[in-house]
Amino acid sequence: MRHDKYLKMYESAVKKLTLAVLILGIFSSCKLAREQGNSSFKGLKDYYRNYFPIGVAVSTKTLAGDEANLLLKEFSSITPENAMKIEAIHPREDYYFWKDADSIVNFAQANQLKVRGHNLCWHEQVPGWMFRDKAGQLVSKDILLQRLKDHITTVVKRYKGKIYAWDVVNEVIGDTDEEYIRNSLWFQICGEEYIAKAFEYAHAADPEALLFYNDYNTERPVKRDKIYRLLKKLIEQKVPIHGVGLQAHWSIYEPSEQELRDAIELYSSLGLQIHVTELDMSVYPWEKNKRKKRSDDIDVLTPELESKQIAQYDKVFNIFRAYKKNITSVTFWNVSDRYTWLDTYPVPGRKNYPLLFDQNLNRKKAYEKVTNFRD
Ligand code: GLA
Repeated sequence: MRHDKYLKMYESAVKKLTLAVLILGIFSSCKLAREQGNSSFKGLKDYYRNYFPIGVAVSTKTLAGDEANLLLKEFSSITPENAMKIEAIHPREDYYFWKDADSIVNFAQANQLKVRGHNLCWHEQVPGWMFRDKAGQLVSKDILLQRLKDHITTVVKRYKGKIYAWDVVNEVIGDTDEEYIRNSLWFQICGEEYIAKAFEYAHAADPEALLFYNDYNTERPVKRDKIYRLLKKLIEQKVPIHGVGLQAHWSIYEPSEQELRDAIELYSSLGLQIHVTELDMSVYPWEKNKRKKRSDDIDVLTPELESKQIAQYDKVFNIFRAYKKNITSVTFWNVSDRYTWLDTYPVPGRKNYPLLFDQNLNRKKAYEKVTNFRD
């Protein structure tokens, strides 16, 4: 009898244990499946769903093939890399070339992507006709402002309701400590006034669009303070401006955590929203002027450079997340290390590796780092 009782107790304990092991097994395989599912189905845009849209600069080539698949999986916003710059979209005074810009906007509409328009007024990639009359002489301020108005009105109206934010004015602050507004032909002919006018024209053409001032080196204190001075003045003049674009052409050497935090806080103190508009993380120090490749330009992504890049990406994304109230968009400049403008600038032929996807479009370690956080 006694023996039977122990046998039953033993059998029931074994049954319970088997059940527990079974439940545990099912639970952990579900968890594993969920995790595997997450990492293979989730893209950057999904990790950052509760923070900001994640965008990327594209050309029409990006809209097909393996890059297009990656784009749709990882990103929720696009910026035309070149297709809307004046020289591309308005190469002659009486002719607009819409094809490429239209393809990009149509692709975005078909795939529910946001579009940031880039850009309406810049001293580069602007054709010579803008500033000259038929005899080749510089035009008057009135004529230049009228041309700017025609350009902005035509382009912004065409994409009204389809482009939610525009980089209206690009890079007007000088790079040297002495120069405030860049001494471009815009400035030489119009003085500072064209900056405010550009915003007014864009606002009149699409009152719903968010309008941005966009620049690089926005975290370097001297330039930052000049940008702040310009933005403050525009706001005081009641110019319709809603945000500042930090281009974020950064490197593994800068900005520092303090510089980035200070810049975000300073610009935000004006009530402006912040878009990170052209993010990439060069593995070389910043150089402004183009130069030839030297024999000591060894363009291999060494483990040391890679770990510095991972740390720098980690740092800036931690800060982006901390300032999610102020930062309302983050856009990368190009999709992967397969193609980046930094392969030709500032040193043509020196390979760079500034993005989160490698040359085979695979996620880099930096990708894993910036997506490894708790919501
Ligand atoms: C600047 C411009 C961009 C682009 C990059 C380099 O940052 O704003 O449009 O030309 O330079 O690719």
